[in-house]
Amino acid sequence: MKFKTIEWKGDAIRILDQRRLPGVIRYLDCKDASSMAKAIRNMAIRGAPAIGVAAAMGIALAAKKARDSKPQAFLTAIEKVCHEMSQTRPTAVNLFWAVDRMRRILAQVGAYGVEQTRVRLVEEALLIYKEDMEVNRKIGKHGKRLIKNGDGILTHCNAGALATAGYGTALGVMYAARDGGKRFHVFVDETRPMLQGCRLTAWELVQEKIPATVITDNMAGVLMSQKKINLVIVGADRIARNGDTANKIGTYSLAVLAKWHNIPFYVAAPTSTLDLSLASGQDIPIEQRDVREVTHFRGCSIAPEGVQGFNPAFDVTLHSLIEGIITEKGIIREPFEKNLKKIFKKEKRLIVGAGG
Ligand code: MRU
Repeated sequence: MKFKTIEWKGDAIRILDQRRLPGVIRYLDCKDASSMAKAIRNMAIRGAPAIGVAAAMGIALAAKKARDSKPQAFLTAIEKVCHEMSQTRPTAVNLFWAVDRMRRILAQVGAYGVEQTRVRLVEEALLIYKEDMEVNRKIGKHGKRLIKNGDGILTHCNAGALATAGYGTALGVMYAARDGGKRFHVFVDETRPMLQGCRLTAWELVQEKIPATVITDNMAGVLMSQKKINLVIVGADRIARNGDTANKIGTYSLAVLAKWHNIPFYVAAPTSTLDLSLASGQDIPIEQRDVREVTHFRGCSIAPEGVQGFNPAFDVTLHSLIEGIITEKGIIREPFEKNLKKIFKKEKRLIVGAGG
């Protein structure tokens, strides 16, 4: 990748400001945890794995800069930051998963002392970053075989390098297929209202020289009926234990359309996006955003005064519409509940339940 989504600079966290792309390439230095939390909230950085990494780095930065030298005071101060991070966005479970990893290090401050805990928290944040890079490559490796020469692939929102520590999940599969010599065409939903597809995914694909066409979200059906699309791959923000998947608003409609047209619909996500504490997608908290994102465009009203707006940032795709979930451990298929549990059993990983 020719850009870095997020970078640990020691005394600051540098992020590529995604609100300004593709027109303006501007990096922001977050010099404290509050500015990192603000950047997550206002979507200067976004995408489930990326906000997990950003929250962990924000906590690490706070730990590095905290003046407290007594374990209890240090714990109280950093716990406050963990809480602040977990209030930024409610849907992507990677955020809570990363905060939880940081909390587990923080909890050992009594045993390790403040100075060592500062170092350990920074190391943990950098590990979360490094692991995400590696996991994305593995998702690519497992998913690339789904792509055939000449395919038309539809994607929604941005699940690329910008949404992760680097490389990407849904786009990572495409990068891996391209590197393996496959030729295909990507159709990119513009992704109303924040236009992550048009602004971010298209920008990544152009840089990577992968042929791509931007469409408005309501064009997917006609392209499917014309047989121009034979595969759909999207990312995920939270996957319940029955396989129901929350992702950017509009994903559910695509999955229904894909089912109708007999087109395989795949979700690409790291296992850090799985939330086995939730029985189904009904329990996933859905972020509701400012309705002006719908009724206005770049500050100008595009709807009559007095009309109401509705702006859920995510929707839930039922597992029965999903052909498979491409993870770093392989492609998981029905029965999702049994097969997802299997990979957790092997890992004995803590199951995160995060409520937003
Ligand atoms: O609101 P956003 O831009 O953070 O939403 C992002 C998505 O819905 C992505 O598809 C998802 O986080 C997967 S990113 C690898």
